[in-house]
Amino acid sequence: MYQQPSLGLTQTNTNGLCDFHSLLCPQHIYTALSGVQTKQSWAMADFHIRKYRDEDEEAVKETFTLGMSEHVPSSFMLVLKQPPTQMVLMCVFCALLTSSKSFLLPILAVTLLLAAVRQAVVYMFKKYIDTCLRIDLKNIGETYLKQKDSCFWVAESDGRVVGTVGCLPAETVPGCLELKRMSVCRSHRRMGIAKALCRTVVDFSCERGCPAVILYTSVVQTDAQKLYENMGFEKMREFVVSELVAKIMNFTLFEYRLDLKREGQRN
Ligand SMILES: CC(C)(COP(=O)(O)OP(=O)(O)OC[C@H]1O[C@@H](n2cnc3c(N)ncnc32)[C@H](O)[C@@H]1OP(=O)(O)O)[C@@H](O)C(=O)NCCC(=O)NCCS
Repeated sequence: MYQQPSLGLTQTNTNGLCDFHSLLCPQHIYTALSGVQTKQSWAMADFHIRKYRDEDEEAVKETFTLGMSEHVPSSFMLVLKQPPTQMVLMCVFCALLTSSKSFLLPILAVTLLLAAVRQAVVYMFKKYIDTCLRIDLKNIGETYLKQKDSCFWVAESDGRVVGTVGCLPAETVPGCLELKRMSVCRSHRRMGIAKALCRTVVDFSCERGCPAVILYTSVVQTDAQKLYENMGFEKMREFVVSELVAKIMNFTLFEYRLDLKREGQRN
């Protein structure tokens, strides 16, 4: 599969509008220079970033919901890797095996327990997604576009929303902005869209003189961790979510921070 080369993303203007088409599509540059029409044989990163509009609402909610839901299987695996989970499963299996002298009952019981654990993970994600859809994503225009130091953008490709990101003043770190709701459709991954969205938030924060951008991601969002580390964010702290199911899972959240003053000096 073709992987887009890493390129500098510096074309955001003050409206938060970028055109990454020529940057990310070297074959187009080639075509323009040579005047020869070539057939594209690989996935094109033909997209641009623009501010959210009301008609994007459904697409944004869907992109966010799908992006979050895809972490259910890895979260389930995370629970299975926890020693307490393995111990409970083992104890149930051994106790039923000794008492029933048959494999059928313990296997059935362990299967049911695994199904229950999976349901608990699904419940946890569903609850988180519902909360987001009820709070900031309920009225994106109101939450992100009418408030000071807040904004929401989408990545559009072929007239379709394929990526989302927003930012709000960080509740825990006064003066800083928090990057939120980063998600890219599966069909458009590894084309630099998330990097471009992230850069848009960083530029927006720089324009407002914010000292840093912060964000939260979780232990199972490994692609996101790589993305933010690639963009220069540093992991500041990690903590387990206080909810019971999350505690049992040892579901850890990471706080990342990009120091804009340091970044400015570096650039
Ligand atoms: C995380 C996510 C937004 C990345 O989107 P993307 O458009 O594919 O990311 P990009 O193409 O811009 O990649 C940027 C960098 O991130 C890292 N990265 C992203 N996906 C990766 C993967 N599958 N494996 C390894 N590194 C990855 C790489 O460093 C990459 O840079 P490179 O291509 O120069 O190596 C996307 O996978 C997603 O939407 N996930 C589901 C929702 C989610 O978890 N959101 C994060 C909320 S905090």
